Amino acid sequence: MPLITLRQALDAAADGAYGVGAFNVTDLVQAEAVLDAARATDSPVIVQTIAGASAHGSDEAFWEALINLARRYEDIPVVVHLDHGPTFDDCVRAITAGFTSVMIDGSLLEDRVTHASFDENVEITKRVVEYAHAHGVSVEGELGTIGGSEDGGATVKEIVLAEPDDAERFVDATGVDALAVAIGTSHGAYKFSSPPDGSVLRMDLIAEIAARVPRTHLVMHGSSSLPAGLRAQINTHGGALPESWGVPEDEKARSTKLGIRKLNQGMDSHMAYMAAARTFLATDVLTVDPAPFERAARQAMEQMVAERMHVFGQAGQAYRHRGVRDAVAASA
Ligand code: 13P
Ligand code: ZN
Repeated sequence: MPLITLRQALDAAADGAYGVGAFNVTDLVQAEAVLDAARATDSPVIVQTIAGASAHGSDEAFWEALINLARRYEDIPVVVHLDHGPTFDDCVRAITAGFTSVMIDGSLLEDRVTHASFDENVEITKRVVEYAHAHGVSVEGELGTIGGSEDGGATVKEIVLAEPDDAERFVDATGVDALAVAIGTSHGAYKFSSPPDGSVLRMDLIAEIAARVPRTHLVMHGSSSLPAGLRAQINTHGGALPESWGVPEDEKARSTKLGIRKLNQGMDSHMAYMAAARTFLATDVLTVDPAPFERAARQAMEQMVAERMHVFGQAGQAYRHRGVRDAVAASA
């Protein structure tokens, strides 16, 4: 059974007025957690990873194994997506590996610090769209700049909100399938120093932009909630995470009613994983085999991802793809 594209996943989500979580993974154990959560909740799912950010020794080895793992979940509609592709060449590498969707993050230049101009962003995004579409792969672009660091690294992006006029021009010029819109969210485990309100999270921009680009699906990055309970659990077992607030659960559910179709989540899954790992390691001081702590961490991550699938509305929606998948398989 083939993997599905981001376009297929999000067209169905638009029909059903729900959102699909795109869960960041940095190794195969986490990928299994996400895929098992999708199976347990009968959800379509997007598994995504960032180039150069995995625990494995090479992107190519990891990506090949990731695609093979995803293909084993024959009963579940799965998109394998490159998150924040920094260059045209990285997108080509992911497409060659078998990814069914790529993001070209043209909001920054290749140094990942300097903001790109609108025209520079259009130029690289258009190039990726031409290549990807010729290979049957979907593309997500980014407009405005989402804050923070995507992979927990040192690059800190200053937030520049997306403009509805620019969104329409960008989509017309590039033909992207999905568009990441900066509405005030930021990446990472340290987001807001107090609970965010309407002046920080510009939910009003979502409906305004959605109305301007009806055939393109909107993406919310930096949508982790940063649960206080998980932070406390991490800190009880040796962590020192400062207090921070993310996007509240009800705001994420509301965003899917306003037009967000893909919700990117990395930190909440990673906090669930690390809270369980730290608790296990602090409690079981005799075991030297890593498998038991990784198993406990995987199960905690699966549970967190499954809970989010209910919040986003994708739980129980896999059936929408079964006809599409059968048709694609029959024509292959
Ligand atoms: P978080 O950092 O809020 O988990 O967001 C992840 C993300 O946007 C990946 O692209
Ligand atoms: Zn992101």
